[in-house]
Amino acid sequence: MSLHRITLKPGADLDGFRRAVRWLIAEEMAPQHVLWSSDDSPSLFGEDEHGAASPISLPKGVARLIEACVCHRDEERYALLYQLIWRVLNGERDLLEIASDPLVHRIDMMARAIRRDLHKMHAFVRFRRMHGELERFAAWFEPDHYILEAAAPFFIDRFHSLDWTIITPIGSMRWNRKNLTFGPPGNREDAPASDEFEEGWRGYYESVFNPARVNPTAMRAEMPKKYWRNLPEAAAIPGLIQSATQRVDAMIEQEATMPLKRTPERALEAMRDQEPKTLKELNAIIAKAGPLVPGATQAVFGEGPVHADIMFVGEQPGDQEDLQGRPFVGPAGKLLTKAMNEVGISREQAYLTNAVKHFKFEQRGHRRIHSKPTAGEVKHYRPWLMKELELVRPKLVVALGATALLALTGKATPITRSRGRARFGTYEGYITVHPSYLLRLPDEATKREAYEAFLNDLRRIHDLSQADLDTGELPLAAE
Ligand code: URA
Repeated sequence: MSLHRITLKPGADLDGFRRAVRWLIAEEMAPQHVLWSSDDSPSLFGEDEHGAASPISLPKGVARLIEACVCHRDEERYALLYQLIWRVLNGERDLLEIASDPLVHRIDMMARAIRRDLHKMHAFVRFRRMHGELERFAAWFEPDHYILEAAAPFFIDRFHSLDWTIITPIGSMRWNRKNLTFGPPGNREDAPASDEFEEGWRGYYESVFNPARVNPTAMRAEMPKKYWRNLPEAAAIPGLIQSATQRVDAMIEQEATMPLKRTPERALEAMRDQEPKTLKELNAIIAKAGPLVPGATQAVFGEGPVHADIMFVGEQPGDQEDLQGRPFVGPAGKLLTKAMNEVGISREQAYLTNAVKHFKFEQRGHRRIHSKPTAGEVKHYRPWLMKELELVRPKLVVALGATALLALTGKATPITRSRGRARFGTYEGYITVHPSYLLRLPDEATKREAYEAFLNDLRRIHDLSQADLDTGELPLAAE
């Protein structure tokens, strides 16, 4: 019998492979009579050439291996998979259970390599704002295998409301908040090398880096150097490794001289060590740290459903919040809740938190007068807020006032200049005034006007979160 040549599209041609397999099985063509190749020629394996054959029923495990292994770069992948299918359909239905079988072993190794590659892509892609484009983001990534299509669902799910493109040497893909399209390969230079959030990432990484746990070999195995180039935080790694020994020595010395004092630095280290995976774990670390400035009764944590659509970020708890241990329950919180009710945002379904988790005040007689947190204090709490954001993963983040804005962006910006829609890293955002600003206004007329403007902001916030939910589309700015 002569050899039958099957030519599939370059890359991971799952559809072409499926069609070919149906036809080959219908023709009872044994693997040794089939020659597999991939190229761009127009005579690819298609229904027009061979007619449509009926689908084949395969055990789930085999079907999953096929989906993974067609992504592998190994030129023999289709031949190996066809051998597997042939044997499963010809009396060896439980073949996958024989781990020592050389074919099963080889295919299993291929599937593992694909899983690893996908994991790396999920972890190491960093979107950056495209130059001159407010709303478009791009990232460069170098996968080892043909995994673009397999990786797409993760990025669509994670960055659904973002217009993003991932450029790689094997192809590119773009999500425009509605549709996914695949395009030609590109170069590193096609994606922006940096953007204004770079500093924020680097600062966050530096603050959670634990010198006592440095293991450069393990770091390189987990994060091979080729990925470092794309990570803003990676620029900090060589310096952090170099200074690790000194920092560990300093830590040991510090512990020897002040073993009982619970400093926030120690709590940050606890966060690095424990890597909190839930809000409960994160809150335990914050509680343990205690206030940066003495006086607060307790830490006031964020409150609301863990994956709320909207996350409101305020400044710091006030007197009532400090006593009750809940955010936004004092006068400013009551005003916020009233305004939310008026526009149809349910407080129970939103997540409310603060940039700073402890009340800072000046004692005047019996009264505790709110004292604004300094930029340094905001910075101190920032890694916790970033972690909280990562755990809640809201669709929309609302900065209430300048302190929240500073905490979310790392930059001091006046609210009047930035009020309205915003983006905080990869999060859709909105900037508005803090409700306590409304309470401080001098006369009733100004208060009413400012409250109306605040309601308008909340209406937009409500619309944005809804639009995001239902259609994936964001309405155009209407200010
Ligand atoms: N102001 C805030 O920023 N947060 C609160 O929890 C209360 C008042």
